Amino acid sequence: MQITWLGHSSVLLTGTKKVLIDPFIEGGSVAGTDPDIVAITHGHEDHMGEAVALNKKTIAITEIAKYLKKKGLVVEGMNIGGTILVDGISFTMTQAIHSSFIEEAGLGFYGGSAAGYVVGMDGIRVYHAGDTALFSDMKLIGELYHPDVAILPIGGRYTMGVAEAMMAANFLGAKTVIPIHYNTWDKIAADPVRLKTALERTSDIQVTLLQPGGSITVP
Ligand code: NI
Ligand code: MN
Repeated sequence: MQITWLGHSSVLLTGTKKVLIDPFIEGGSVAGTDPDIVAITHGHEDHMGEAVALNKKTIAITEIAKYLKKKGLVVEGMNIGGTILVDGISFTMTQAIHSSFIEEAGLGFYGGSAAGYVVGMDGIRVYHAGDTALFSDMKLIGELYHPDVAILPIGGRYTMGVAEAMMAANFLGAKTVIPIHYNTWDKIAADPVRLKTALERTSDIQVTLLQPGGSITVP
C-alpha cells in the first residue's frame, strides 16, 4: 500500500482501491486523485472539503451521511465502534475528542461526533486519527486493531500537539507514525522534527516526515 499525504489532514491510500480520507487541501484541489472511496472524519470544512464535488462513494458518521445523501452522493453511513466492509476494504470508525459542524451558506448543521478510522486494505492497517485530543483508549485501538501505521495530528490549538502525539504513538504501538494537520496555517504551526527526534530516541517507532504530496510505501 502506498500512503500519500496530500496536505493538512488529507491522506490517500493506494492499493487494491484508492481511499481518500478528508478531501481538503489549502489553496488546491484533491480531485486529480480520482479516489474509489472517500472517508470523512468530521464536518469541519478543512475535512469535508471537496466531498460533495468529488461525488464518490463516501463513508461518514450517520449525521454527515444523511447530509451527503441529500446532496445526491452514494453514502455508507456508520458510527463510532462499528466496522464495515466496502469494496473489500474494512473501515472501523474510532472515537475522536473534537467537535463537528457542517457549514453551508452561512448556516450550520449538526455533524454528529468527530471520528477517526482504522482502514484495512491489502493486509495493512492504517489508523487516521482525524482531529482529536489525546485519549487513553488509543491503547484499545492499538490492542484491538494493531495498526501498522498511525497518522496523527500535531498542530496543537485544535488537536493534539507534539507532546500528546508522542504519548498517542506509544499507546497505539504502530511501527510507523506520520504527523499531519500542522503548518497549514500559522495557528497550527508545529515542528515535526521534535516528534521524530523524541520518539525515535525513546522507542522503536519510526516517524516518517512527508512533504504535502509525498508518499511512503508500506510493505
Ligand atoms: Ni476539526
Ligand atoms: Mn481540522
